[in-house]
Amino acid sequence: MTEVSGLTIIAIEDADIPAVVALWERCELTRPWNEPQGDIARARGKSNSEVLVGHAGDTIAATVMVGHDGHRGWAYYVAVDPDQQKKGYGRAIMTAAENWLRERGVEKIQLLVRADNTRVQAFYETLDYEEQERVIFAKWLDGRPMTP
Ligand SMILES: CC(C)(COP(=O)(O)OP(=O)(O)OC[C@H]1O[C@@H](n2cnc3c(N)ncnc32)[C@H](O)[C@@H]1OP(=O)(O)O)[C@@H](O)C(=O)NCCC(=O)NCCS
Repeated sequence: MTEVSGLTIIAIEDADIPAVVALWERCELTRPWNEPQGDIARARGKSNSEVLVGHAGDTIAATVMVGHDGHRGWAYYVAVDPDQQKKGYGRAIMTAAENWLRERGVEKIQLLVRADNTRVQAFYETLDYEEQERVIFAKWLDGRPMTP
């Protein structure tokens, strides 16, 4: 458990799941082809992944899903409740994700931002993240057409 900027950050628990999914929906982070409860079940409590939840009083104010392949760490589902943004919670939950990776010997964190999510780019730049020039190739292994 960590306390940062008034946020108590701990690994997700069963009782948190409905509120976490609702937060992701409010932040428009869910996609029809990624069932969020399934994403949580795959990531939580694993040696190389976790879902961290930031509690402000009795509400869930922030989340991040963090994972690594031994070399690179990744952050997903970075979200702060729209009613609680601009209070330092986004920085706090990213710090928790970075520390989670550092504690496991991972040296780098990266994340994907959808090209149309321009608003969030300034947030990551404030946190000293830099844009990398890469092109992503992807393929569904069951043969379905590529999703946007
Ligand atoms: C992006 C998001 C997590 C930021 O959360 P937040 O709690 O508002 O961020 P913080 O208050 O911790 O802000 C940290 C810093 O980033 C800056 N920042 C935050 N949002 C910003 C924005 N839209 N534009 C410019 N700067 C921004 C803040 O000014 C602050 O700078 P400071 O520490 O120097 O004062 C939140 O807006 C969010 O959940 N957005 C919707 C979901 C989303 O798009 N997630 C990312 C998917 S890749």
